[in-house]
Parts: sequence; C-alpha cells; structure tokens
Amino acid sequence: MSNAIEKEVAKRRTFAIISHPDAGKTTITERLLLMGQAISVAGTVKSRKSDRHATSDWMAMEKERGISVTTSVMQFPYRDAMVNLLDTPGHEDFSEDTYRTLTAVDSALMVLDGGKGVEPRTIALMDVCRLRDTPIVSFVNKLDRDIRDPIELLDEIEAVLNIKAAPITWPIGCYRDFKGVYHLADDKIIVYVPGHGHERTEQQVIDGLDSDEARAHLGDLYDNFVEELELVQGACHEFDQDAFIKGEMTPVFFGTALGNFGVDQVLDAIVDWAPRPQPRASHERDVQPTEAPFTGFVFKIQANMDPKHRDRIAFVRICSGRYEKGMKLHHVRTGKEVRIADALTFFAAEREHLEEAWAGDIIGLHNHGTIQIGDTFTEGEKIGFTGIPHFAPELFRRVRLKDPLKSKQLRQGLQELAEEGATQVFFPERNNDIILGAVGVLQFDVVAERLKQEYKVECIYEPVNVWSARWVESSDRKKLDEFSNKATDNLAVDGGGHLTYLAPTRVNLSLTEERWPEISFRATREHH
Ligand code: G4P
Repeated sequence: MSNAIEKEVAKRRTFAIISHPDAGKTTITERLLLMGQAISVAGTVKSRKSDRHATSDWMAMEKERGISVTTSVMQFPYRDAMVNLLDTPGHEDFSEDTYRTLTAVDSALMVLDGGKGVEPRTIALMDVCRLRDTPIVSFVNKLDRDIRDPIELLDEIEAVLNIKAAPITWPIGCYRDFKGVYHLADDKIIVYVPGHGHERTEQQVIDGLDSDEARAHLGDLYDNFVEELELVQGACHEFDQDAFIKGEMTPVFFGTALGNFGVDQVLDAIVDWAPRPQPRASHERDVQPTEAPFTGFVFKIQANMDPKHRDRIAFVRICSGRYEKGMKLHHVRTGKEVRIADALTFFAAEREHLEEAWAGDIIGLHNHGTIQIGDTFTEGEKIGFTGIPHFAPELFRRVRLKDPLKSKQLRQGLQELAEEGATQVFFPERNNDIILGAVGVLQFDVVAERLKQEYKVECIYEPVNVWSARWVESSDRKKLDEFSNKATDNLAVDGGGHLTYLAPTRVNLSLTEERWPEISFRATREHH
C-alpha cells in the first residue's frame, strides 16, 4: 500500500491557471484538455466566461451549470502524470472563490497577454499565490499578434510581480513574422506552423541555431535574433529549480494558445518541474500526502449544479491517503461518520462516479447542508486544515420578499447559496430581517436571479445601515455573554450559525473594539 501511495502521489500535479480576463485562460484550458486527450477537438469545452461579460450574459450562461461545473475541476492523464486542473473564476467579484481554490493547488500557471503584459488581476492573483509561495510557471500568449518587446515583458514581470523571470524559450518574431520559439538550454528551434490550432500536431524541431536549416527558417530575422539572444542570455536569469519551488523564480514560455503552440511546453514544465502534492498544515500537525489514512478539506461548494437534481457539491482536496468508493469518512466539525458511496470526479470533462482517488486529487461530495467550506474529512483523526478563510463582506442589503408566504424558501435559498462562500447571510438577533452580504455587487443580482430560478422566490433589496461585519470570538465566556447582552442591537448569526457583529460605521467598529478588548472581531474566519 505504501508503495502504491508513493507512486500515485508522485504522479500527481494539481494546478490552477491565473490570468487577467481575456489573456487566454479558457483557450489554454481547451488546449490542455486536447493534449490530455480529454477532448478530441479544441473548442468543445465551453466556459462560463464570467470574466468579461455583463451580469445578464453571465446569468444566461450560468443556467448551463452542468457545463460550467465540468470546467471547475478537470483531471486528465499526460505522459506518466495525472494532471488536476482547477478553474478559477476570473471576475473580481469571485475573488474569494479564487482565493480558496488557490489553497487547493500545488502550483499555478500564469498567463499573460503578450500585447498587454502584467494586468491588475494578474497582480492580485500573484499576491494570493505568494501567501503560500506557490510555484508559478508563466506563459506569454498571443504571439500570433503584435506583442510588446519580450525583454520589456520580462522586466515587467520581475519589477511588478517581484519574482525572478527565467526565459526557457524565446520568441522568434511575432504576428505575421512569428516563426516559433528558440529553446535556450536545448539549442533548438520549435517551428510554428499556423493553422493547426484545433488539433494535436507533431512538433517540428530544428536542431541548433547555428545551422543552415535555422538560417533558412529565420531568413531576414536571423541576424537580429542572434543579437537579441546574446542580450537575453547575458541579462536574464538561468532557470533554477530550487528557486522555482520556493516561489522565487518563474520559468517563462512564449506561444499562442489559439494556434495551439507552446502550450505543450508549459504542460511539460508542470509535469517535469512543478511539485507533486505537498504536505498541508493543520492546526494540530503537518500532514504528509503519502500517509495512508485519508484526509482532505473542502475548498469550494457549488449549489444546484444540475438544476434537475438540486444537488450541492462540496469539492474536497485530498491531502493524504486514498479515497475508495464506499469508504466511511469522519466529518471533523460535526463529529459524524459518513459513508461516501458516490463521490464525483471530473475526469475527461464529464462527471463520473469514481472508484478511487489519491492525495492531490479533487473529489466532489454531495452536500445536503451539513458541509461547509473549510471542513476537514478524515478516517477518524480530529484535525483541521488551516488557511481556508472566509472574508467579511463589504456590501450589505436587506432582503425583502415579494410574496411574504415564501419566507421559508427564502431562508433556505439564501442559506444554501451562502454555503458557496461568495455571499453571506445574516439573521439579526433583534428582529426578523434578513441581511445579505457580498464582496462584490454583481453577487446581489446573481443571488436574486438564482433565488428566482432555483428556489422560485422573488426578492427585492433595500439599503441597510451596515458598514462591515466581524466574526465575534472570545476565550472569556463571561465577557462574551456580557457583550452579547449589551450589543444585541448589532449582533446577528450568519448562515453557518456563527455570531457576527454588524457595524453601522467604521467609527462604531473601532469604538466597540476599544471598549471590548477581550473580544476579537475577525474580518476573516477560518474553520477549525
Ligand atoms: P480568458 O478565458 O482568459 O478570458 O480568455 P479566452 O481564452 O476566452 O480568450 C480571450 C480572447 O482571446 C478570445 O477571443 C480568444 O480567442 C483570444 N485568444 C486566446 N488566445 C489567443 C492567441 O494565442 N492569439 C490570439 N490572436 N487570440 C487569442 P474572443 O474573440 O474574445 O473570443 P472568441 O470569440 O474567439 O471565443
């Protein structure tokens, strides 16, 4: 068994793509699946593309939830490896979801639009990766168009993202002159042949830049390219595996996702260089992926993925051991044993019931309201994985029903949607109001629409005098009771049953914090 675990863990690569909307994440995802033979023709996997669409478009697409979920987690074999690719929604209103997804990966692929370089979302996502020193592979995309000076792009990565950039390949021309890339260490040219974007093709390779074949292929570009290369080799960092693993250096590749060129090199880099499933910190101890007993944590919940089944799926990153169909798992927060007969995997862009899965893989558990983001599952050990926070929402609305008879459905809907983590619902202690909090304003529209579609409830929003929410905790039970009595007017219980303080203003919050030093007011909440 221990050998089997060692072998399976060593095979796994679990990563996410981070990019600014429009840089090419969806296109690259398709090409990766094409390479993993998960699909036969690129363009068959549609993403919900929440990134760049108006709310109405987004919701129309969101109705095809069966499709969107297949792109949340994709598993495919590549060479000797088993690759898990986790999708991160690009829209900034979903940053929480993205943040938590990035806690479930061991490396990330950063995609830049060669014409634009480092963009605001790239910076924000890199900041998140840096929290855990996640190793980053970089891909400069859209070489079939006019791009910025590649040297300038590398400088920008280093200066703005504060990471050393080591070019592995170097582009030969761009736009109509794009001839391929030169592999610096291997001294070979990988030839770009336009028009094969949608199929798997054999690489055409020219050995040696100093060859007749290379001269003929580059033509007029040859002399300039050789000159540029000298500059690059003099000025750029050499790739250093250790620095990459520590998150201090990123290997950089160039290509065009649309032209299906360069994406294979990136996938090779992830398989060759990116780390296998890493140990995970829990409050109690570090958990090694090769430990035999199963452990895992929930990093994402999605409600009503399949409208016909009304199912809610909890996505679990396996941290150690092996999942086997029918096994009993211990749900640490509730203390209950659950038999998991029907976990899902997302192999080959289809939902399939799976027989087994290993550390590094993601499984989907059916959730009937008992599972929360951050929950830990084990084979009995009482541990809790760290680093999966909830963020305090920044926008608040009071929710009113159009039809007062449907209040039960409203509560249920809000509570179930809040499990996904993008919104939070609060039930004030002093009255029967329901307050919805969100990190981004788009979420309010999405929730209203989903309540209508999925729960048959129509609601309207009203402004409410809440500036921010803080989760309230204290080790001093007496003080907490005292505080609860005094501050009832501003206290509420969130969807998960946690006590929260709804501060009407910033000033009110700081005064309250000063007045109650024994109480902690948390802007993020981690599950134990
Ligand atoms: P995203 O998920 O990061 O938002 O990006 P996506 O892959 O959807 O790509 C954004 C746009 O950029 C798409 O064009 C896509 O076809 C294009 N694109 C991606 N890679 C390349 C590339 O290597 N070269 C060129 N020239 N374009 C690329 P669109 O017109 O917005 O969408 P579509 O109608 O093509 O789907």
